[in-house]
Amino acid sequence: MTIDLRSDTVTRPTPPMREAIARAEVGDDQFGDDPTVKRLEARVAELLGKETSLLFPTGMMANETALLTLCAPSTEVVAEGHCHFIDWEDGAPAQLAQVMMRGVPTPDGVLTAEGVEAAIRSPNFNQPRTSAIAVENTHNAAGGKILPLETMRAIRAVAEKHGLPVHLDGARLWNASVATGVPLADFAACADTVMVCLSKGLGCPVGSMLAGPRSILDCAKRNRRRLGGAMRQSGILAAAGLYALDHNIERLADDHARARRLAEMLSSVPGLQVVPPDTNILMVDLAPDVLDAPTLVARLKERGILVTAFTSRRVRFVTHLDVDDAGIEAAATGVREILA
Ligand SMILES: Cc1ncc(COP(=O)(O)O)c(C=O)c1O
Repeated sequence: MTIDLRSDTVTRPTPPMREAIARAEVGDDQFGDDPTVKRLEARVAELLGKETSLLFPTGMMANETALLTLCAPSTEVVAEGHCHFIDWEDGAPAQLAQVMMRGVPTPDGVLTAEGVEAAIRSPNFNQPRTSAIAVENTHNAAGGKILPLETMRAIRAVAEKHGLPVHLDGARLWNASVATGVPLADFAACADTVMVCLSKGLGCPVGSMLAGPRSILDCAKRNRRRLGGAMRQSGILAAAGLYALDHNIERLADDHARARRLAEMLSSVPGLQVVPPDTNILMVDLAPDVLDAPTLVARLKERGILVTAFTSRRVRFVTHLDVDDAGIEAAATGVREILA
C-alpha cells in the first residue's frame, strides 16, 4: 500500500462525496443557472464574511485573477519572499497581471507589518508604484506556518494607511482557523479578496473560491472568463465543495495532530532538523553529512512512501484525510531506517 505524503491535494473523493457529486442539481453556470454553484458561492461568502464569492477550477487561477483585478500593469505587489505567487506560480503575475512581486525576506515565512511597510514604495516618478499586498495563510513553503491574526490586523492597518488592497492566499486558511480557533471571517476581514482551496485539506477533486466585495468580484468574474475559467455544469464540483464544508473542516485537527506526531518521531533521528509544524505540513532539513533530499525521497519511494524534495536538503511531508496513524508510523520508521 502506498502512503502518499507529497501533498494534501492527493486525496481521492470518498464514496459519500462522490454520491453528493452524483446527486448534484446542475445548470449552465455561465448563464447563472447552476443552483449548486450558487449555493456554494453564497456559503463560502458567508463563512468568510464577504459579500460574494466565485468558484474557480484552481487556486492559482483565483490568485492570478485577484492580482489581475486589483493591480494595474507595471505596479508592484508586496508579499513574503517565498510565497506561492513568487516561488510556485511560474512567473504568472508577470505575464498575466503584468506586475512585479516585491518579496519581503523573513526567517520563517511570517510577514511582519514593519517588513511590509518598509517594502511599500514612496511615490517616485522613476520607481514602480506599490499596488497591493499579498499575504499567505497558512504559508506552504514555510511548513504550513500560521500568520497570526494580530499580525494580519497590523498588516491590514499598514495597507489602509497607504491606501492599498490586501489579497489573502488562503489555500489552507481552513487549517489556520482550525489550529487557532480564530473564525475564518476574522482572518478574512484583514483582506479585500480571499482565495480558499477546496481541493487541498478538504478533500475535493477540483475547486477554489475567490471571495470579496461585489464591486471587486464583478470585475474578477470578467477576468476569470478571460483566463478561461468560466465553467458550465460546475455544480458537480460545487456539490463536492458543499459536502467538504459540512464534513471535512473540523477533522483537519487530526491532520495537525498527525503532523505533530510525525515531527516528534523524526526529531530523535540523527541528521535531521525538524521544523515544528503549526498545521499539516512538516518540513524536515537534512544535515550536510547525510544523504540529500532527492535520495531520501527515492529511497522512501522504494518502500511505498511518497514525499516531496522541497529543496536539495529539505523534505516536505503533508498529512491529509487519506493518511492514518499507521501511515505516519510507517513513514517515521522508513526515514529512521534509511538514515541509520
Ligand atoms: C499557498 C498556495 N496557494 C495557491 C496554491 C495553488 O492552488 P492550485 O494547485 O489549486 O492551483 C497552492 C497549491 O499548492 C498553495 O499551496
